[in-house]
Amino acid sequence: MHPHLRQKQRHSLLEDSSAYNKLVFNKKRNEAQDHSALMDEAAGLFRYEDCKDEYWNPEAFSLLYGTPLWNQASASQRVILNQLYWVAYYAQIISAEIATIYLNQVSAAGLYTHEDFRIVCDALDLESRQERAHINTFKTIGEEVEWRLFGERLFTYPMRSLYEQTMVFADTNTAKAFWRNLQIRAFTLLSSSNAFLASQYLLVRGLRTLNGKLIQHQLSNYYSQHADRDNAPVPSKISYYHFMDESFHFNTSKIIGHEIPRSLEPPTAFETWIVNRAVLGCQKDHYHFSAAIKGIFWYEPALFPVLYKIFRSSHFGMTDSEAKDMLYQCFSIENEAIHQSFSLHCMAVESYKAYVDSIAYLAAGNREMAVMGGNAISKYLERNVKALRKFKGAA
Ligand SMILES: [Fe+2]
Ligand SMILES: [Fe+2]
Repeated sequence: MHPHLRQKQRHSLLEDSSAYNKLVFNKKRNEAQDHSALMDEAAGLFRYEDCKDEYWNPEAFSLLYGTPLWNQASASQRVILNQLYWVAYYAQIISAEIATIYLNQVSAAGLYTHEDFRIVCDALDLESRQERAHINTFKTIGEEVEWRLFGERLFTYPMRSLYEQTMVFADTNTAKAFWRNLQIRAFTLLSSSNAFLASQYLLVRGLRTLNGKLIQHQLSNYYSQHADRDNAPVPSKISYYHFMDESFHFNTSKIIGHEIPRSLEPPTAFETWIVNRAVLGCQKDHYHFSAAIKGIFWYEPALFPVLYKIFRSSHFGMTDSEAKDMLYQCFSIENEAIHQSFSLHCMAVESYKAYVDSIAYLAAGNREMAVMGGNAISKYLERNVKALRKFKGAA
């Protein structure tokens, strides 16, 4: 902004050269290394036949890994479970990235109401374009695998808006969905003309992607540590390419969420309340953990019908009572998978706390992640037993 002419704001982002330079550098590097074209190419090259007998992720990242089902599964069944982890995991990422595209635009609109924020908006534009390539790649492969193996959808879904559930398998009902919908509409309406709230969308975006960063790093290792990279399965390459793009997105979240408020007026009581609501929403969304698919905050009982379908399929060949009994064995009695998923959940809680530690305007319950940290294995088992009883009666 012109230093001598009257402006509406007292501070400029340009005065904060540390934050500004970080944003310029991060955007430049993301542009130079952009992996979205490689992802498009990989989606075009994918043929299930070429990699159907291989793992696509490290073994521990297989559906139901560490459950009694996994322990008794044959080698070829384990390959399917490993591939299904990829499909399910990235089905959740698609959902998160559909929301990201929309909220990036809203946030850019809010930040652009101030002088000198063009760099931030341009960075978000680039990221939205990359997300569209990511979504297309995950969707192409996920749908092909489900069609080839099952002839129907399990974890994937037709394209949709963020107003449908962000957690693909959530603990929800009509009333909860109504309130969630209203909250998003209110938040986006406010953020599109409010620079502080727009910056804090990125704080929440960073928080929401923190756990994914942890998991996706490990998924990308399968390719980066592969002995023969050229012939590594295409989906493992995609995990790697995606992780590369996302590391820049995470930097953007961190710089904007943590550092941009320095260039803005301190938040009003109302703005502070809204940010706290958004962080609380993240805590609630990330309250659950799943032993079927570790590293995702899915509500386990919402998965029972899909798992039942997998058990009954020709790949596992179970009868109705065998499939239901297996659900009991996997989800109502403590086992290795439950312990692993819960300990990942605890790690997520700790990393979230560290991430928001310096944010003075967050309430104690948000800084300590009191809601998200309130889950426990005993509560998880109790919910599952109840839901299984209902499922047994209904199916
Ligand atoms: Fe992405
Ligand atoms: Fe992203």
